[in-house]
Amino acid sequence: MSFDLIIRNARLHRRNTLVDIAVTNGKFARIASDISESATREIDAVGRLVSPPFIDAHVHLDAVLTVGQPRYNTSGTLLEGIQIWSERKPSLTREDVKQRVLEEVRWEVAQGTLHIRSHVDVCDPALTALRALLEVREEVRDICDIQLVAFPQDGILSFPNGRELMRKAMELGCDIVGGIPHYEWTRDMGVEDVHYAFALAKEFNRDIDCHCDETDDPHSRFTEVMAADTIEQGWQGRVTASHCTAMHSYDNAYAFKLMRLLARAGMHVIANPFDNVVLQGRFDTYPKRRGITRVKELLAAGVNVALGHDSIMDPWFPLGRGDMLAAAQLALFLCHMSGYDEINDVLDLITTNAAKTLRISDRYGIDEDKPADFLVLDAPTAFEALRLLPARLHVFKQGREVASTIPARSNVKRQGDDEGGEVTYRIE
Ligand code: FE2
Repeated sequence: MSFDLIIRNARLHRRNTLVDIAVTNGKFARIASDISESATREIDAVGRLVSPPFIDAHVHLDAVLTVGQPRYNTSGTLLEGIQIWSERKPSLTREDVKQRVLEEVRWEVAQGTLHIRSHVDVCDPALTALRALLEVREEVRDICDIQLVAFPQDGILSFPNGRELMRKAMELGCDIVGGIPHYEWTRDMGVEDVHYAFALAKEFNRDIDCHCDETDDPHSRFTEVMAADTIEQGWQGRVTASHCTAMHSYDNAYAFKLMRLLARAGMHVIANPFDNVVLQGRFDTYPKRRGITRVKELLAAGVNVALGHDSIMDPWFPLGRGDMLAAAQLALFLCHMSGYDEINDVLDLITTNAAKTLRISDRYGIDEDKPADFLVLDAPTAFEALRLLPARLHVFKQGREVASTIPARSNVKRQGDDEGGEVTYRIE
């Protein structure tokens, strides 16, 4: 018997012994310590980490690569970002959106991200960006799976015809219902924002992912409303609260009550380290809050947490290149998850935990009979991957190589040594 592909001497996350991984017809055919058969193509991983693909669980594809259009965010704040985006929105065209998104998806794929959940702003009577992204979702299926969230950037109740635009977005084919309760004009409108998202989700039998409590205001408490609705509507496992930065600022008594409720509701939480640390704490003098939600404590409370890139060169975050491993490394710093096991566990936030959030676990992971989606990192362990942010040497989707990277090499020459020696950044 012969296979299409064998990755030899691969190290799997949390497994000490090396394995060979055989792929046939786009699926993992066999995972064993020593596969004697041959394959059309063989890659020797030489002990490198072979991981399921990375997942960007929260990004705004409609806004990517618009930094500086029509102007740069001079204050760096969330509110100026929303203002600049409202100035950019009228000039959105199908071609403009598609061109930027297709390019950015290539960036993410090159770095090992094969699943993306993107919010798309539906506060646009023409729904231009949504229509373009619905086309992109289909066009990139060979390299990346995209879920689209109907996202009311300017509010469901606070924006003209907000409810109708949300409904229209679902009718056009959005995968997930979004919301933005903390941004509505009043507390009551915020509660209604959440209730409306649940009503729409039930009507279309869809999952929910709301931007929720994305503020430093400790009185912003809509995540609890989402949890109560989740339990009352029987939507456990299907609901995600994104950002939840106010949780950073809640007093501990309330925060721990809320975390227990989130666990009971089977809710997922998504943190976005780049945007959270850059956009929150802006009204502080010193000390300045980090802003990111309580990732470490949520995990300890049994809540599933995943990460997103959120912004890539847009009005809110001018930098970034779509590297989820860099997002995970930043979360590690910001959330004090630098214990040895914690560093290794951080990889889960952009892999298995995110797969649970996107509810794709049945077809995700390096297991026999699942789609052969994986990447080979130029590092032996998750710990080393999070330290080095190494090249993603090979990225495979359904057994086909969709991206490859040649790692950079550094050389240092001492005086009198013209050849020099390579720098590996590793303790041998
Ligand atoms: Fe967001």
